[in-house]
Amino acid sequence: MTEDWRPRHAALLEALAASGELPGAWRPAFAAVPRHHFIPADIWEQRATCVPVTTDAAWWDLVYRDVPIVTQVDDGQSDGPAIATSSNSMPTMVARMLTALEVADGQRVLEIGTGSGWNAALLAARLGSRNVTTVEVDPVLAEKAAKVIKDAGYSPDVVWGDGARGWESGAPYDRIIATCSVRRIPYAWVRQTKPGGLILAPLAGDFWSGALVRLDVGGDGVASGRFVGGARFMPMRSERPRPDAPVDSGT
Ligand SMILES: C[S@@+](CC[C@H](N)C(=O)[O-])C[C@H]1O[C@@H](n2cnc3c(N)ncnc32)[C@H](O)[C@@H]1O
Repeated sequence: MTEDWRPRHAALLEALAASGELPGAWRPAFAAVPRHHFIPADIWEQRATCVPVTTDAAWWDLVYRDVPIVTQVDDGQSDGPAIATSSNSMPTMVARMLTALEVADGQRVLEIGTGSGWNAALLAARLGSRNVTTVEVDPVLAEKAAKVIKDAGYSPDVVWGDGARGWESGAPYDRIIATCSVRRIPYAWVRQTKPGGLILAPLAGDFWSGALVRLDVGGDGVASGRFVGGARFMPMRSERPRPDAPVDSGT
């Protein structure tokens, strides 16, 4: 992994900006936090199944393409069926969600689903590390992400826990962003968001692949909002489909 990444990084930023997905307010953060830094050596390309990437050239090619990259399969167990259990999201989707989050300087953000740590580092670059907390349910991933984020020069609070409960000790937040999908917004997220704050999360059920919902949190403990586009994300760990589970139609 010694290739000169700069032209690829610059080209990805140009493409995001040209497609209107990377507003000026986020460009310095994307420029300062190159994607490859957060991608481990072992990765998989998501096709019909997860296909391991086996050469340096293919690794670099995938890292600077506008596609999601699978960074863990089978919760890190070997000899499994190679089901994606963590990924570094598609850059367009990352930029789109960060833009939809409508952050302002000094605001405090909780991210649910640290994964590779890229999104948390982008938030830290934009808002300052002390304003960012990120929760990851997988202890190995949480530890790895904390290290790569630190190596990149940022120090948000990276915590191991179940993001369905938010992260009480850092609350209240101005923004909560989830990068795993949920069937319903956990009420803990509403409680932990300041009145006037915002929650952005992919919602998904058994019969639909997902949509991004943006909720405004009121002072009365009610959050309301609308869908702001499609978003396919892996489900929150406790909400993975089980063959024996009753089907949730999303109604
Ligand atoms: C699409 S990846 C996140 C991408 C990440 N934001 C990044 O920048 O690479 C989804 C992550 O959510 C994590 N996750 C799943 N359920 C969770 C939960 N209950 N609490 C916190 N994290 C969870 C998964 O382990 C996985 O790492």
